[in-house]
Amino acid sequence: MRAYQILPGANIDGLQCVDYPDRELGAGEVRIRVHAVSLNYRDLMVASGNYLVTVDDPIIPCSDGAGEVLATGPGVTRVRQGDRVAGAFFPLWHDGAPSPEKIRHALGGDIDGMLAEEVILHEDALAKIPPGLSFVEAATMPCAAVTAWNAIFVSSNRVKPGDTVLLLGTGGVSILGLQLAKAAGLRTIVTSSSDDKLARARELGAHHTINYRSIPEWHDEVLHLTHNQGAHVVLEVGGQGTVNRSVSAAAMGGTVAIIGGVSGFGGEVNPASLLATAKRLVGIYVGSRTMLEDVMRFADTTGVHPVIDRVFPFSQAQEAYRYMESGAHFGKVVIDVTG
Ligand SMILES: NC(=O)c1ccc[n+]([C@@H]2O[C@H](COP(=O)([O-])OP(=O)(O)OC[C@H]3O[C@@H](n4cnc5c(N)ncnc54)[C@H](OP(=O)(O)O)[C@@H]3O)[C@@H](O)[C@H]2O)c1
Repeated sequence: MRAYQILPGANIDGLQCVDYPDRELGAGEVRIRVHAVSLNYRDLMVASGNYLVTVDDPIIPCSDGAGEVLATGPGVTRVRQGDRVAGAFFPLWHDGAPSPEKIRHALGGDIDGMLAEEVILHEDALAKIPPGLSFVEAATMPCAAVTAWNAIFVSSNRVKPGDTVLLLGTGGVSILGLQLAKAAGLRTIVTSSSDDKLARARELGAHHTINYRSIPEWHDEVLHLTHNQGAHVVLEVGGQGTVNRSVSAAAMGGTVAIIGGVSGFGGEVNPASLLATAKRLVGIYVGSRTMLEDVMRFADTTGVHPVIDRVFPFSQAQEAYRYMESGAHFGKVVIDVTG
């Protein structure tokens, strides 16, 4: 079988398609024919060597993939041949709160990921894909959708229909967050550098949109749009360039979900900006397999179909990475492994 490999830090040019050796399935293991893989900002960080973990040897990149069970090893009971499955971002985080042990390994980070024709995963790291999601759609779920789900519905301060969610930018996490929030009856405010992307966000049902380039004080605009109440949940993907504005834009008792750093990491948050307003900063680190199952079931039930900006064939993985790197995308970029 063929797989892509990359030595973290070798950059996108270092992404190479290789023949990968097959091996026997061990106890509890499942062989999966991968159909689709989605890219995340994190895959660019792995390629450029800026991701949290370091490894000495090339890895198969990408955390997010969906496919079909080809064969099961001894003792497997959770899935069977023919099942459609997606792999959990953290193979050892099945449920509950995270722990150092549960997040020890991450697909496409410190261990082999999903950008391969076939992968072998433990049955406990798999979530069945509900009928309403295609392989391409399910491939967007393990990182981006789980992160947005965790931020809005698991780690926030009891969000309820009618509450406001603020989504920064129009990348994978934020657009999935918009779709999930909309389906749950939440008010949504989306920021972007592009008026065209904001128009697309409105077509998806965003209640309000703000161009953060033309309105640098976008946090004030959020307060204005919410009659000075602020957003109950903020999906903070910007990092040092946005975090203080996100705190300002949050409602009293609201949650700023610390997710990413597309503008870099660093800076300071003044404790006083949280104190009298009882605002909460909560770190989000993707989520568990149970969250993956929950968000896929929610998408299936509510008819959420993740926005797929572009699908590249397997032979054009480098092109897919470069497109993602360009920032032109709206929603998710996917690689069709069967194409
Ligand atoms: N903690 C976690 O578990 C977790 C999980 C997933 C992702 N992340 C992190 O979350 C971030 C987003 O990931 P992603 O995969 O969604 O990335 P993505 O698809 O590449 O989207 C990034 C988007 O960020 C927006 N952006 C760039 N600069 C911005 C700024 N100064 N202010 C507001 N928005 C800005 C852009 O939107 P416009 O083009 O509309 O301006 C861009 O499309 C990354 O830092 C990633 O590492 C963390």
